[in-house]
Amino acid sequence: MRISWSYVLALIAFLFIPADSTETKPYADFIHVRIDGKPLHDILNSVLDTWDFKLPESGLRKGTGYIGANFRARRVVRDMLSGKRPVKIAVIGGTVSAAQHGVSKRGETDWVSLIGSWISKAFKGHNITVANHAVAGSTSAKTAPCVVSMLDPEVDMVFSEFVYDDGFESQILQNSRTRGYELLIRQLLMLPGRPAVIMMQTMVPGAAAEDKHPGKKAFHITQEDVYGALSQYYDVQWLSFRDATYRLAQHRPTPGLGYQDLMDPSPLHSLPSDAGHKVLADLAVWFMQQTAVDLALRPYDHTDVEQSSEPVPPSMFPKNTLHESVTCS
Ligand SMILES: *[C@@H]1O[C@H](CO)[C@@H](O)[C@H](O)[C@H]1NC(C)=O
Repeated sequence: MRISWSYVLALIAFLFIPADSTETKPYADFIHVRIDGKPLHDILNSVLDTWDFKLPESGLRKGTGYIGANFRARRVVRDMLSGKRPVKIAVIGGTVSAAQHGVSKRGETDWVSLIGSWISKAFKGHNITVANHAVAGSTSAKTAPCVVSMLDPEVDMVFSEFVYDDGFESQILQNSRTRGYELLIRQLLMLPGRPAVIMMQTMVPGAAAEDKHPGKKAFHITQEDVYGALSQYYDVQWLSFRDATYRLAQHRPTPGLGYQDLMDPSPLHSLPSDAGHKVLADLAVWFMQQTAVDLALRPYDHTDVEQSSEPVPPSMFPKNTLHESVTCS
């Protein structure tokens, strides 16, 4: 019997090409840049080699919704790297970050605790604190008048997680939820510590359900994209669990990365499980790593100082400022 060469080649290809195309070496291994003769990977090795990502690099890149100029976060990550001054990171948000459901060990496997333990390894010996102020069920509008009393005025970086609890309004022009979130962002940006503010956008109830489920919410049925206007207007960074996972979980179900894995108790609830919290932490770690690499390639200088001390611009919705009579309740 004659065996055709094309058959043999196909067999060899089958044996040697990895079945799972999402399996690849870590991003950091691709960095072959030297700075002042020193490999960048060595300069940043404690930051780059201390975290194993659950998401493939494609997911991390898709989940980076808006980075923009990033001046405030460049300042914070510079301080985290140098260890010359204490850095305070805070998380505000609702049900997802409060992590009363979905995670197996609150204080350990929720995304805020995960980034806290990474930070203590990656920036060893530096005084960096991570505080979780999330309260289940809280919305951005209700949190706006409260943040000043909730947070340390000198906080350096604030992750803000609200889309899960904010609900949805299908109009753009007069969207009361976006108006409410704008008030919150303004309060944060005006804090004395001039914190970097990062929107941590999770999936909303129904968004992770199977397409055929009657409770399924389509990709765009969320406040996330409308809040994107605020992100771009204020240069507030936008990380997206939905964007990071949708292709892998919904369109091309990938072992370990399906919504059955990432959500607990079910994709319909769209509340992250331990694996889902790992994905959220992935996004935050990737963001800080990318900012560190950016700082190495484009060192911090006077333009950062000028840009990050710019006054907060007028509101995006005309005259949308917090009324003095509105108090924290
Ligand atoms: C860390 O910094 C805070 C101020 O933000 C300070 O109160 C605390 O004593 C410092 N801790 C250490 C171990 O230096």
